[in-house]
Amino acid sequence: MIPLVERYRDRLPLGPDDPVITLGEGSTPLLPARRLGEQLGVELWLKWEGSNPTGSFKDRGMTVAVSRAVAAGAEAVICASTGNTAASAAAYGARAGLPAVVLQPRGAVALGKLAQARAVGARVLEVRGSFDEALAAARALADRGTHVLVNSLNPDRVQGQKTAAFEIVEELGRTPDVLALPYGGGGNTRAYALGFKELGELPRLVAGAAERRRETIATAIRISEPAHRAEAEQAYAQSGGEAVPLADDAIVAAWRSLARDEGLFCEPASAAGLAAVIARRPPPGSVVVCVLTGHGLKDAEAVDRIADAPVTVDPDPDAIAEAARR
Ligand code: F0G
Repeated sequence: MIPLVERYRDRLPLGPDDPVITLGEGSTPLLPARRLGEQLGVELWLKWEGSNPTGSFKDRGMTVAVSRAVAAGAEAVICASTGNTAASAAAYGARAGLPAVVLQPRGAVALGKLAQARAVGARVLEVRGSFDEALAAARALADRGTHVLVNSLNPDRVQGQKTAAFEIVEELGRTPDVLALPYGGGGNTRAYALGFKELGELPRLVAGAAERRRETIATAIRISEPAHRAEAEQAYAQSGGEAVPLADDAIVAAWRSLARDEGLFCEPASAAGLAAVIARRPPPGSVVVCVLTGHGLKDAEAVDRIADAPVTVDPDPDAIAEAARR
């Protein structure tokens, strides 16, 4: 496996002698989704970002941001997070031998993500407040110069994240007609727009946002004030796309379809791109790529929303045969 930074070094802001802090990120599968594609009348592909080392797309930007932080002689990194950025910053921080401080809105982060940050030794601080308030605090602290901010406001994060667009175009041999993704803070949208523009052509960017940003089941995108709103909304407009507000039920329905029809268990927020495509059907035959941003195991408790409870049986073939019939 070639680390992302090596694969795309000529397009990334790293010097030839800079250290590369890698966990083997990038080069994620682009999977055809035949069943769902047929239902929608399009050629559907799924960019499976849950297969990154910490289980989310954040690792693409984090390898660049932490490598650059090390090159600059940083002493510690900090981020605010709904969980995935924290898990990624914590892992790359540990890999680099840099202390990581992660701020998370208390009670609003999925357990798997919390476990990831704790396991690798990050200083996990649960903030009495929202993600937006935690981010403001992280920015203020970073401004004092003691910690490098590794949220997507750090331009190195966006640079690393843009590589997903390169992989998609390389693999498809063309720019897709539609690129669908979740819209939380908009950093990922901004990164895809940058990546596609560098290659010369922007697909229609269609994003799924939670209608009720403050309280959606998709905790990863529980963000009231997108930090990249201006740039993200400019990218939707420029590309002829849009941000589609989604009810939780629509996100959950798309999430269930990905799991049941394609065998891909992502986290709820990751299904928002597909939910947006379902809500705004692209013309028949379009080539559509949905980005699945994070792994379902991060938020395993949420599975109760799409699955039956397991059934308890005795180790007896007749009882099992009976119970196996639905
Ligand atoms: N999908 C997942 C799984 C996420 O974790 C996030 C954001 C998004 C989508 C939205 O991406 O913010 O670039 O528009 N997670 C951040 C975090 C906020 O702290 O992990 P965006």
